[in-house]
Amino acid sequence: MRRCESDEEQFSVFSTQSTVCSWQSAVGSDPPHPQPLSRARCAHGRGEFSLATPDTRYPKPDTNFPTMIKLSNISKTYRTQSIETLALDNINLEVKPGEFVSVMGPSGCGKSTLLNIIGLLDEPDKGILHLEGNLISGYADKKTAGLRNRMVGFIFQSFHLIKELNVFDNVELPLIYRKMPSGERKKRVYEALEQVSLTNRMHHYPSQLSGGQCQRTAIARALAGNPGIILADEPTGNLDSTVGKEVMNILTDLNKAGTTIMMVTHDELLAKTTHRIIRLFDGRLVG
Ligand SMILES: Nc1ncnc2c1ncn2[C@@H]1O[C@H](COP(=O)(O)OP(=O)(O)OP(=O)(O)O)[C@@H](O)[C@H]1O
Ligand SMILES: [Mg+2]
Repeated sequence: MRRCESDEEQFSVFSTQSTVCSWQSAVGSDPPHPQPLSRARCAHGRGEFSLATPDTRYPKPDTNFPTMIKLSNISKTYRTQSIETLALDNINLEVKPGEFVSVMGPSGCGKSTLLNIIGLLDEPDKGILHLEGNLISGYADKKTAGLRNRMVGFIFQSFHLIKELNVFDNVELPLIYRKMPSGERKKRVYEALEQVSLTNRMHHYPSQLSGGQCQRTAIARALAGNPGIILADEPTGNLDSTVGKEVMNILTDLNKAGTTIMMVTHDELLAKTTHRIIRLFDGRLVG
């Protein structure tokens, strides 16, 4: 089990972003996306956000492309000295490139476990996982770490920002861990901050930010590496509903520009704005 608790471990989690331009060399094939993967700027102006409502649900992506995420008979049991918990029970799931999928279910039903397994932060006991057609095996090996680095960006409910670093440095840190050259790194960080309308706060520290600004920083950190998949675990959970909708709008814009997103949420209204809702109960997929 590989939960990431320390700052250092978090760094390695956040060094999971991908340069999609390296896709071909990594996988030896064309990206399955129907459009160039360079993301468009967020549709809203700086500091101004249109509010998503269930009526703004947009068309499903073309599903003639290969699967982005495929879980076959995935199970996960946590064992402590006194108790065994079957957190995921024989999960079969496919997510197409460009889909925006919400994951819902009661507390403890396995939502975070599911995201952690898809994001290669945690290892299943049984079953097979494919990401972008790659069979994931050997969770500790370099190939898996490389896949995670290129493919996945994470966003968490509690932001997980480093309090000693300012906004710019928080976003830059995973790129440093990826050994990206300084010039490209600075450019990427600035562009990511522009996308979340936060360049005017880039010298602020997390303690000087609102909750929404913290989450926008975390989103910038996740997207700076241009990942094909964003995994968001209750990204609006610590935000009031207006700010939560702003964050949701940024995610929606990213998705419209081609990023596949899986988002855990307890908010039915937000979930209804995405392409598809999957529901877990006691570790099982029930809808
Ligand atoms: N490290 C762990 N050790 C032991 N049990 C764990 C561990 N992590 C999770 N579990 C158990 O696995 C089950 C699923 O946990 P998980 O965190 O995936 O739930 P969740 O659906 O994300 O819940 P929430 O909505 O409260 O975040 C829970 O019963 C939990 O207690
Ligand atoms: Mg959870």
